Amino acid sequence: MSYQTTKEHEALRSKVRAFAEKEVKPVAFMNDQESIFPVEQVKMLGEMGLMGIPFPEEYGGAGLDNISYAIVVEELARVDGSTGVIVSAHTSLCAWPIYAYGTEEQKKKYLTPLASGKKIGAFGLTETNAGSDAGGTETTADPDGDYFILNGGKIFITNAFYADTYVVTAVTNPDLGMRGISAFIIEKGQEGFTFGDTYDKLGIRASSTCELKFNNVRVHKSNMLGQLGEGFKIAMSTLDGGRIGIAAQALGIAQGAFEAALAYSKERVQFNSPIAFNQAISFKLSDMATKLRASRLMIYGAATLKDAKQPYGMEAAMAKQYASDVGLEIVNDALQIHGGSGYMKGMLVERAYRDMKITTIYEGTNEILRVVIASHIIGRPPKKETAAKAKTAPTGVTGVRKKVILEGTAQERVDKLVAALKSDGYDFTIGLDAQTPIPQSGRVVVAGKGIGGKENLTLLEKLAYQAGAAVGSTRPVAETLRYMPINRYIGMSGQKFTNNLYIGVGVSGAGQHLKGIKTASTIVAINNDPNALIFKNCDYGIVGDFAEIIPLLIQALDNGEAKRYVEQPKKIKRAVPKKLPANYKIHICNGCAYEYDQKLGDPESDTMEGTPFEMLPFEWVCPECGEEKSQFI
Ligand code: CAA
Repeated sequence: MSYQTTKEHEALRSKVRAFAEKEVKPVAFMNDQESIFPVEQVKMLGEMGLMGIPFPEEYGGAGLDNISYAIVVEELARVDGSTGVIVSAHTSLCAWPIYAYGTEEQKKKYLTPLASGKKIGAFGLTETNAGSDAGGTETTADPDGDYFILNGGKIFITNAFYADTYVVTAVTNPDLGMRGISAFIIEKGQEGFTFGDTYDKLGIRASSTCELKFNNVRVHKSNMLGQLGEGFKIAMSTLDGGRIGIAAQALGIAQGAFEAALAYSKERVQFNSPIAFNQAISFKLSDMATKLRASRLMIYGAATLKDAKQPYGMEAAMAKQYASDVGLEIVNDALQIHGGSGYMKGMLVERAYRDMKITTIYEGTNEILRVVIASHIIGRPPKKETAAKAKTAPTGVTGVRKKVILEGTAQERVDKLVAALKSDGYDFTIGLDAQTPIPQSGRVVVAGKGIGGKENLTLLEKLAYQAGAAVGSTRPVAETLRYMPINRYIGMSGQKFTNNLYIGVGVSGAGQHLKGIKTASTIVAINNDPNALIFKNCDYGIVGDFAEIIPLLIQALDNGEAKRYVEQPKKIKRAVPKKLPANYKIHICNGCAYEYDQKLGDPESDTMEGTPFEMLPFEWVCPECGEEKSQFI
């Protein structure tokens, strides 16, 4: 097989390379340093027709093939990995599934502005409990007349904040495992659809990555992509193509680093000779060039298969896994060749080294890709179908919580909160130094962005004193607003609070923050936004204004005496999860009283676990006495 590119491909490469050198490279260093999304450059890419390369012209695309698409991503990533992934996620993960599965109306409405670069797209699959195990999706889409109501959230979403159109997956039938997942197109600005804070990342820092939050988002059924229950397969086939894009991104980053190392090795003289002629270096360069060539052939091979409408999932997985694995080796060698100079900020190889790492992780970790490749060459491993999960109370990031939202006047809400905490065993005569390290604090009062100006911290400190708590904050309050030292923020990447009482004030409930408090015994949320996600993750919530609630709470906790300082307050037990009854009916045979439970299915007739009674075929009969299905009650 030959993967010779055409003259047209190479002309496109020259055009994109010239653009990348002139418009992207000069801003790449600063954008990386400051995490600035390249708005202007993406707009220019749209104007040049590069945001919809593989889509027909009638939908605003360039009508080119997938090798052309790979070349565009490769050439952009050659100077900036961030710009490469912006184009890749937009094209492969959002525009493509709409092109492949959308109705004519959906294509006109959503694909055309995406492919013509007027709008930016993103893809929402990953969740806190659904990373590599994408079938573990927990975001729900409950039918409500002509609408579905979306609740939940997505994490690590590329382009998220700057996108206009999103393809997201959600569970429409929890009893059907991955066959109960559907895909939807949603738009920025829909009521209840918000974003978490932008992540601070190791690499691809100019691409925007944040959480998507859905709080009763009404999505019209005409925005379902494909059929009900097809969402998992849509996501999987979308990722097949996405992996060509990420492989091209890895190739581009590696190519840029290789060229920089080659140039440097010819310039840098040691022992009276350019280091390129030292075999230790020239062998590195030879290996790098070989790996680049192999990657390129694999990527263009997968793209060719896709264009020929032949199966390409395995080849795309191989290309992504190989190009990113060897890409890491290439950027490592490129930096090594630069010696100490390569370790300095501002050097392309320093950025390439950081940008490359993610390509072995996203759109399928390279470990998962080996699972995909193996399933193509060996076959899928035998496995039990996912049983309908026993229904427990719906859980958030912080696990099962009481979720009691207190009602009444402001005074009544505060009094109810204090009474509930006292009845849970909290003693408010004891105190703690407000600056006690977070992991050692028995209680903590946490400031979120909702507290407003820094001056309001004084009020929170008073609350912390009366509550016998230390003070802490969310990451943006420490890192962006700098109201507190960085070692006082709580979250997955910061300090963990694993003790008794957490009181979050003005905290919205970003996933990364909630992960830092998920083992706290009691979570109290005070926020004026009733839709804040923290209310779905708390034990007690007060919806109310900070300035009204906090002084009342300080007063209610103040017993008029100085607090007794206690280093280790006793551990308060956390609420125990309660099992809810199944949300489906058991059907009983009129003849022999056999019970059909959909959780168990009927192994005798090969009926899978999780199959609802209604979905049993007409000819199904009672496994005990042979009674017909119609005789069940
Ligand atoms: N195309 C179409 N259908 C597919 C498919 C594909 N590529 N792969 C699987 N399916 C179908 C299967 O045929 C099967 O359907 P049937 O039962 O009807 O036959 C169903 O989906 C389930 O397949 P599996 O049993 O193989 O599913 P699994 O749960 O065992 O494993 C997995 C699937 C390969 C591990 C998958 O979960 C996976 O790819 N995980 C990685 C997820 C991932 O890549 N996430 C990246 C997030 S996006 C991102 O990173 C974007 C970014 O930031 C840029």
